[in-house]
Order: sequence, then C-alpha cells, then structure tokens
Amino acid sequence: METVSTVAALRTRVRAWRGAGERIALVPTMGALHAGHLSLVVLGRAHAERVVASIFVNPSQFGAGEDLAAYPRDDARDAAMLEQAGCDLIFAPGRAEMYPPGFATGVRVAGLTDCLCGPARPGHFEGVAQVVTKLLNQAGADFAVFGEKDWQQLAVIRRLARDLDIPTEILGGPVVREADGLAMSSRNRYLDPAQRAVAGGLNKAIFAAAGRIARGAPAAAEMAAAAAALRAAGFDEIDYVECREADSLAPVGTFDAARPARVFAAVQLGRARLIDNVPVGVPVGMAP
Ligand code: PAJ
Repeated sequence: METVSTVAALRTRVRAWRGAGERIALVPTMGALHAGHLSLVVLGRAHAERVVASIFVNPSQFGAGEDLAAYPRDDARDAAMLEQAGCDLIFAPGRAEMYPPGFATGVRVAGLTDCLCGPARPGHFEGVAQVVTKLLNQAGADFAVFGEKDWQQLAVIRRLARDLDIPTEILGGPVVREADGLAMSSRNRYLDPAQRAVAGGLNKAIFAAAGRIARGAPAAAEMAAAAAALRAAGFDEIDYVECREADSLAPVGTFDAARPARVFAAVQLGRARLIDNVPVGVPVGMAP
C-alpha cells in the first residue's frame, strides 16, 4: 500500500487502475481510525477492485473553539489499519495542496443543513461540502463510501453529488458500535472512564424512544422524555433529540411506516460532542 500527497499522483494511480478495467472506491476520513472507518473500506472493497482512503483533517469544517488543533492524529497506526483492511492507496494531502493561496470557492447545500447539527455548528457543513466536493473530483472514483453514523452529513453529500452532477455513486455504511452500543468515534478518546460509562446510555435512550415511536407514540413526547433521561444519566448538555424523516430530514409527528424515519441526538459530555442516530421501525442490526 502506497501513500501519495498530491492530486496529480492520486490521479495517475486511479488512471492506471481504470485503464486495467478496475473500479475504484474512495473512503474519505480525517484519520484517527477505528473499526467504523475500516468497515467503510470493506464496503468499498465489496463494490470495487481498488480502495483509496483519504486522510485529511479539514480545517474548513471546524468552527472557532472546536477541536481542530487537538484532533487526534496517528499516521503510522492509521496506515497499518488501512493496509490490514484491504486499502490500496492512502491520499494524505497537506493543507496547501487542498487550499492553495487564492482558494475562494465554497459549496453550500441549503435546507438539509438548517436543522440538527447545522445551527450548533455554523459553517461546518459548508466545510464538509467543500472538501468532499474536492475529494470526489480529485479521485474520480466510481464509488465513495460514508458512514450512517453522520447521517446528516451523508444526506448533504448525496444531495451535492446529485445537484453538481458528480458521477460517483455515494454509498452509506451502517453505524459500527462498541459492545455497549456507543457509536465508535475518533472523539470517544476524549472521554475519561466515568464519562465513557455515561456515554453508553446515549444509544440506549434513542433506541428505546425509536421503539416506542414505531409502536405509535407521539414523537414530541418521546423526545422530551429521552432528553430528560439523558440529562438525568449525567450528560452535560443535550443539543437535540429529534425524530425526523430519513431522507428529507423533515420533522416527524407520528411515525408512518411508508416514510422511513430516524431518531437523532447530539450531546456534550466533557470535551466530547457525541452524535448518534437510529432507525424507527427497523429491527436492530438490520440495514434501514
Ligand atoms: P471522520 O469523522 O474521520 O469519518 C470518516 C467516515 O467514517 C465518515 O463517513 C463517517 O460517517 C464514518 N464513520 C465514523 N464513525 C463511524 C461509525 N462508528 N460507524 C460507521 N461509520 C463511521 O466524517 C468525516 O471524517 C469528515 O467530515 C469527512 C467526510 C472525511 C470530510 O472531511
């Protein structure tokens, strides 16, 4: 497995594979990898002969006061994990390669970014849309793989690829969880042992609420009860707990099985902002 840091070198590798009749899957990451990221490499490999993983901690998606400077980095460990998972190439550009002097272009996906994490993280999804548009254009892959853990991000990326006619098929991979159900995240390492014990309650609260909503309970009452339960369980701040339609992210009043829905939550616990989401009306362990 090779690592390249320039767009030109990336394109040379991709062109050679394509010339040999091989398909390519791209897995964008910010490094500090865990089994959730590696599951996306495996999913990419199931669709394509070659998998490229990008590692770039994208400054434009971090807000002032967020953890850009502290974001964990471990290049050697990441490379070993990617090789083990069957990755063929790492694309690890520097900041100047991605944002050379004079860079001036933004990408904004309206509507989908106005809810959930949008208001709490101004500019975040513009930064994600900007860097993902670039990565998709740089790699020219057949497939690009993103995790359902960041469901709103996945929805934004599907929309921008469609709206901007980017000919890469966007694939979503299921949330990979720890033994107690906590969604794996590079930011979980910010939790101390006591906070880590509390963190396991997040998924349980939203799975329970999703189950009751699937059986007909009004979403608003369930969301208020879940937020109160999370507060009582020791989470520091509840940013949101909401039930929304899976594709449009429109709010849900009562569940209609003809319109897939999910329960979404974001909470603060110590230094970590944790997000999670689960399907309504789909048995645990099944893809929605
Ligand atoms: P990062 O947080 O490194 O995540 C990279 C990819 O891994 C994303 O598609 C994310 O949804 C997925 N992922 C993270 N935890 C997961 C889990 N527990 N189960 C399944 N998939 C998981 O998301 C980003 O980076 C950035 O915003 C990026 C898309 C790379 C743009 O900079």
